[in-house]
Amino acid sequence: MRIDIITVVPELLASPLNESILKRAQESGHAEIYVHNLRDYTDDKRRTVDDYPFGGEAGMVMKIEPVFRCIEKLKSERDYDEIIYTSPDGITYNQREANRLSLMNNIIILCGHYKGIDYRIREHLITREISIGDYVLTGGELAACVIADSVVRIIPGAIGDEASALTDCFQDNLLAPPVYTRPSEFNGWKVPDVLLSGNFAEIEKWQEEQAYTRTKALRPDLLEE
Ligand code: ADE
Repeated sequence: MRIDIITVVPELLASPLNESILKRAQESGHAEIYVHNLRDYTDDKRRTVDDYPFGGEAGMVMKIEPVFRCIEKLKSERDYDEIIYTSPDGITYNQREANRLSLMNNIIILCGHYKGIDYRIREHLITREISIGDYVLTGGELAACVIADSVVRIIPGAIGDEASALTDCFQDNLLAPPVYTRPSEFNGWKVPDVLLSGNFAEIEKWQEEQAYTRTKALRPDLLEE
């Protein structure tokens, strides 16, 4: 899978996209992630990417031309399944959407910034608008990292231990059961006996019950879906 991220602050993306699972997924060829600096698509000396809004509101608006040039260049090189814009007024991101995106070949993520982007880009070029929650970030870069991370980790083969992605929280609309490691007792705090029993049928049953009980207590809305 290939992800192209368009941003005015590429520096914000470097570290999150190049560590841990995302780093390994790129090294093993499961994912390709490219970051494009929107300023490289400007045509003035000052590399201007924003301008004042019509109507005289406060704040700046991302200009059409650099975004258009960048997206058109990428589209001329390959087909894209989705052109995503990150914005607090998009659809709320969740595991279902991550699963859906992980099946795609090529996606673009355009990071919103400033007061937003000239609305004509959203009307004519964007195919999906995604928010990572009901709060406002300084820009869409962190949201793009959240999307890239959550998508790449579930590409089949990207995680060495494949089962691990399938047992993630939310994969069955359930929270994950608690996990423990050695020592089996610390400070008088014990790991549940069943996990030490070696009886895998019992362990699985316990994990399912825990997942259900925790979801019911902490996120009953997931059970209603
Ligand atoms: N840009 C600013 N806030 C955002 C949010 N909550 N989700 C996605 N992009 C954003």
